Amino acid sequence: MSEGSDAQPISLTVNGEPVTVLATPSETLLEVLRYRLGLTGSKQGCDKGDCGACTVLVDGRPVLGCLTLATLCDGAEVRTVEGLSTAAGLHRVQAAFVRHGAAQCGFCTPGMLMSAVRFLETREQARAPTREEVAAALSGNLCRCTGYAKILDAVIDAAAELGTRSVPGSNDAEGAR
Ligand code: FES
Ligand code: FES
Repeated sequence: MSEGSDAQPISLTVNGEPVTVLATPSETLLEVLRYRLGLTGSKQGCDKGDCGACTVLVDGRPVLGCLTLATLCDGAEVRTVEGLSTAAGLHRVQAAFVRHGAAQCGFCTPGMLMSAVRFLETREQARAPTREEVAAALSGNLCRCTGYAKILDAVIDAAAELGTRSVPGSNDAEGAR
């Protein structure tokens, strides 16, 4: 990233907070999040679209931050891993990852979590997801440590906990997300 005289302000809503931030035409959303806004949860792994460690949600859809030009996100709503937990506690998917030991080195975890949240918030609510459905939802996220089994267990567990609520990631009676 370079500051560059060609940097222009763009407006984003990041984890519910409106922000205006400079971005050059060649700067990626991942770079803006990490190096201009200090949101280093989204990881710069391969930086070429292979690993999914940079996955964030833009207007509710998962995107690879390393392949997404920041200027094209002007006006968008962006959710990152930093927005999952609240003062009341971890998001339920995060808590399930902890329970199942689904994070080892943790480098893939932010991207995994965002893909999982997107899956849980958009899945058919009337039945539990199959293991294959969860695996498909996370297929763009690579993990070199866990062998994936514990990650799938965690997401299936979170889905069971979240039951049939229409917005699974939202605050519930226990105050945890
Ligand atoms: S850092 Fe974006 S896909 Fe690997
Ligand atoms: S926990 Fe290390 S890459 Fe997934």
